[in-house]
Amino acid sequence: MSPASPAQRSASSSSGASRVAVVLAAGKGTRMKSERAKVLHEAGGRPLLAWALDAARAAGCARILAVVGHAAGEVRAAFSDAVDVTWIEQREQLGTGHALLQAEPHLTGEALALVLSGDVPLVRAETLGRLAEEAERGWGAMAVATLAEPGALGRVIADARGDLARIVEARDATRDELAIRRVNAGIYALPAPAIFGFLHRLSPDNDQGELYLTDAVTAAACAGHRVALVELEDPDEALGVNDRLELARVHRLLVARKLRVLALGGATFLDPDTTALGPEVEVGRDSVVHASVTLSGATRIGQGVTIHAGAWIRDSTIGAGAVIEPYSVLDGAAVGAGCRVGPFARLRPGAVLGEKAKVGNFVEIKNSTLGAGAKANHLAYLGDATVGGAITCNYDGQAKHPTTIGERAFIGSDTMLVAPVEVGDNAVTAAGSVITQDVPAGALAVERTRQRNVPGWSKRRPRGAARRS
Ligand code: UD1
Ligand code: MG
Repeated sequence: MSPASPAQRSASSSSGASRVAVVLAAGKGTRMKSERAKVLHEAGGRPLLAWALDAARAAGCARILAVVGHAAGEVRAAFSDAVDVTWIEQREQLGTGHALLQAEPHLTGEALALVLSGDVPLVRAETLGRLAEEAERGWGAMAVATLAEPGALGRVIADARGDLARIVEARDATRDELAIRRVNAGIYALPAPAIFGFLHRLSPDNDQGELYLTDAVTAAACAGHRVALVELEDPDEALGVNDRLELARVHRLLVARKLRVLALGGATFLDPDTTALGPEVEVGRDSVVHASVTLSGATRIGQGVTIHAGAWIRDSTIGAGAVIEPYSVLDGAAVGAGCRVGPFARLRPGAVLGEKAKVGNFVEIKNSTLGAGAKANHLAYLGDATVGGAITCNYDGQAKHPTTIGERAFIGSDTMLVAPVEVGDNAVTAAGSVITQDVPAGALAVERTRQRNVPGWSKRRPRGAARRS
């Protein structure tokens, strides 16, 4: 191929052209040995593809095109709420170059294509910005990193000016080329429509018999176009996921990034290597998270909260100063400030604990409200119930017994439930009652002496007594 003339170069330069993200996510991911699409495997609490899409969004791309193919229906269903993404189907997975070609009908005018790999999740929006700027200054740009263990990633060879000379895939590389530690991160800024000319001329003349995007970029460089090599400040950004070991590595790095943000925000993680943390989780200042804790989904933890070892918490809120004792499971629960939960408690969706409530071991609460200060210390089940300031008394001095509170039951304030006892569905206990017998479904249990009113009492008593009584 002959070098491009200066005129051709400026015609294909894309300065000022809109930035469009193209995320390549159609591959089979054979080395994952999985029934599922590779980009749906989770790392850091989200599918791999979600990280690339978010980076594209954060980089302010005008449009996001995602190329899907293998298990396309499954992938699209998993991202049905990503309304800003245009899905493009690559029916046969003939390689990364062929994948980018599928975007051609969607990139008719001048555009700068920011090409991402759906299996490279650590990419940052700033990196995409740097690539775009470099490409706008010349022709194209690609992210490179120097790794101690370059593994199966493509090796990058620079020309005398430090721009791209050639990319060679590891499986097509000679022994000398394999010794190169500078790798292709699989993230590029390429001018459209110019890049499509090179993609149309690709041939599957390689070990995998595929149409390689890397060959098209190399061809552009050989034709005299400047493809800038943008060295990643954080080489981890280049890590891709092709097998389960790489998935585990990337997962740990994504969790570590989140841990870093929370730790710098004032939360303590006593054993960070054993903490699992989802991307949306918030942990307030002076909270302490012990070993082997999982925090996932939309979990918000307030200030000064202690979470002991082995707790598993999803989609829950925990108020300031609360203590979650070891091995408690909270799912969709709201725990008020100053509460104490566990050990071995289970709060199921809709469990709401008022301030300073106490839930002890082997207590299960489903869709029920436990009022402020209420206590269910051991062995209780509360389903669809409302409990105002009550106490379950499970210990008779010798053994502990269960308390069961039925569906839609209402436990009045200051009720004492002396176990073993069962309050039936829709039953009500009157405030201040000491319940020692089962309450049948639908019944009202009142256990207290009848109120006596003494008429005219205040007139008969000595002066000042009203204030003292
Ligand atoms: C690719 C690069 C390699 C680079 C590495 C970075 C090529 C030929 N090689 O290798 O230089 O170091 O990424 O991670 O580009 N895909 C499709 N359709 C296809 C094939 C792949 O959409 O027909 C998608 C995959 O879903 C994946 C991405 O493109 O998200 C990269 O493909 P993959 O097969 O993982 O390429 P690598 O071997 O990792
Ligand atoms: Mg890959």
